[in-house]
Amino acid sequence: MAERPAAPESDTRWRSGGGFMLAALGSAVGLGNVWRFSYVVGENGGGAFLLVYLLALLLVGVPLLVAEFALGRAMRRESVAAIRRLAAGSPWRHIAWLSLVAPSLVLAYYSVVAGWVLRYLMDFSFGPPTAAGDHAAAFSAHVAGTLEPLAWQAVMLGATAAAIANEVTRGIERLNRVLMPLLALLLLAMLLQAATLDGFSRGLAFLFRPDWAALAQPRVYVAALGQVFFSLGLAMGVMVTFGSYLPRGTALHRPALAIAFGDTLAALAAGLVIFPAVFTLGLDPAQGPGLAFVVLPEVFARIPGGRLVGVAFFLLLTVAALTSMASLLEVPVAYTIQRFRVSRATASWAWMLALFLLGVPASLGYGAWSRVRDAAGRGILELMDAAAVDLLLPLNGLLLSLLIGWAWNGRRAAAATGIRPRWLAWLWLGVVRFLLPTLLLVVLGAGIARL
Ligand code: PFF
Repeated sequence: MAERPAAPESDTRWRSGGGFMLAALGSAVGLGNVWRFSYVVGENGGGAFLLVYLLALLLVGVPLLVAEFALGRAMRRESVAAIRRLAAGSPWRHIAWLSLVAPSLVLAYYSVVAGWVLRYLMDFSFGPPTAAGDHAAAFSAHVAGTLEPLAWQAVMLGATAAAIANEVTRGIERLNRVLMPLLALLLLAMLLQAATLDGFSRGLAFLFRPDWAALAQPRVYVAALGQVFFSLGLAMGVMVTFGSYLPRGTALHRPALAIAFGDTLAALAAGLVIFPAVFTLGLDPAQGPGLAFVVLPEVFARIPGGRLVGVAFFLLLTVAALTSMASLLEVPVAYTIQRFRVSRATASWAWMLALFLLGVPASLGYGAWSRVRDAAGRGILELMDAAAVDLLLPLNGLLLSLLIGWAWNGRRAAAATGIRPRWLAWLWLGVVRFLLPTLLLVVLGAGIARL
């Protein structure tokens, strides 16, 4: 297979570290920080989950992020070509497929949830207000629809495809430069409001006081590790491709730590807004994927100026979702352009259509196909999410850490990270060689046992 530098953008380098950080953070901060983080924390016992999450972030997330950046930078190619190049001539090159399948599967159902966000934005902007107390019913009614949720999903995917087809992602990034700080400010303001609620201390305790008994449950580890992969955007090809745009020589642990820190801060802020409200309103923290979509509108319905806050919040979340979706779609599109020599527009729209169709069952799983559930009561969207996040991502992470740790000459790999002092680079290599495979294998085993 021809292994040329992949995307045409491979020739562009980020002029400043700031541009790279913004792009990587824009891709990391998305629905995962608000929607997924809150519902997974809620389902897995709060503080115990958070503790495992933070450990997994430092022990697995940051080293793997450095590894993906280093691979992309050293190979100067997007993910599939980069992996194939490192694994040239060995059967390991086939693992590159996983970095194509994973982002595609994630994008298929991510776009369904992004469609919910857009619908809420429209409702808060133009719709008649939903009364306080009615938002759980309103959410269920909305997601149970057939055509309408599909239409919102298609609009979000269409906007993403248009951005990727016309290469305006730089424009979105610039938009992000303004909107991300705004999202941070808005979350901060909402946090101050949350601090006045009766349930604030219970919310804090839920998030920060681990229920030690929960630590005995394997599912907490599976969920926490999966959320680290999802939230940082690991094992989806994205960060390898981002690495290929980086100038040589700079140390990669700093941006990796900064991204992990910023991403976690966003998730914690969302949690600190959502959980106090959950307890103040007497809602169930473990109610599943609808959590943020019920709790936040209930808050907006009760505070002065809440409607405007709702519009601002869902607008910012829509943009956060779009930047994440654009990084995901870029992976299969960049590969397809190079492999089949089709135009960027053809590749973008063909993938949009395919991923829309793949996402249709996830959407219908809340309505027409709601009887399709596993023994634990999980519907289609949750099952796709579990397949991607609990299995595919850790599996790809395991294979990537083996490839990067063992197939790459150790000295070159350590040098490729640009980390100094040298012992720190070697420590990183030791983690990638031994700790990551061990941890990922154990957690993956636990995930498979749960199937
Ligand atoms: N990290 C994103 C989120 O938390 O919403 C999801 C994601 C976006 C993963 C983009 C990967 C990616 F390339």
